[in-house]
Amino acid sequence: MNDDFVLDVERIRAQARQRMEAGARTPALKVDPEKVIALLNDVVATEIVCWTRYTRHAISAVGIDRAQVAAEFTEHAGQELQHALWAAERISQLGGNPDFDPGTLAQRAHTDYTAPAPKDLQQMLRDNLLAERIVIESYQEIVRWLGDRDPTTRRLLEKILEEEEEHADDILDLLDS
Ligand SMILES: [Fe+2]
Ligand SMILES: [Fe+2]
Repeated sequence: MNDDFVLDVERIRAQARQRMEAGARTPALKVDPEKVIALLNDVVATEIVCWTRYTRHAISAVGIDRAQVAAEFTEHAGQELQHALWAAERISQLGGNPDFDPGTLAQRAHTDYTAPAPKDLQQMLRDNLLAERIVIESYQEIVRWLGDRDPTTRRLLEKILEEEEEHADDILDLLDS
C-alpha cells in the first residue's frame, strides 16, 4: 500500500483545460480510443444479433405454446438491446460513431443469427446457450485486455457480463426442465 498518495489537483486541472474538445477522453485513458471504439462496435453488432435471435425464437416458442420459454427469450432480447445501447453510448462518449449498419452486422458479430424450425425448442435453447457462452468468453477477454487502461468501458462490460452469465444460467435451467 502506498500511503504517500497525494492527489495532484493542480496538474489535473491544467490537463483538463487542454483539448477540451476531447470531452470524456482524458489522458487517464491509457489506450488508443479508436481500438476501444472498434471493439465496442463489435459488441454493438453482437448484441443486436443476439436481440434478433432471441426475438425470433420468442415468437416461434409462443407458436408452440411454451409461454415460459418464450417469456425468457423475450426478457433476454430486451436486455441484449439494452446492452447494444449502452455500448453505443460509450462509443459516442469516446468520440466515435456507433455502427448499426445492417449490411455488416452479421459479419461483425461474435455470435450467429439462427432460426431453427419453430417446433425445435431444444435447438433454440442450445443455440442461445452457445451464443451466451461465446459472448461471455469474448467479453471476458476484452475485460482482461482493458485492465485499468479504460476502467469505464471495463465496468460497462462487466455489468453486461453479469447479465450474460444469468442468461446462460436461465437457459441451462430450461434445458434441464
Ligand atoms: Fe447482451
Ligand atoms: Fe445474453
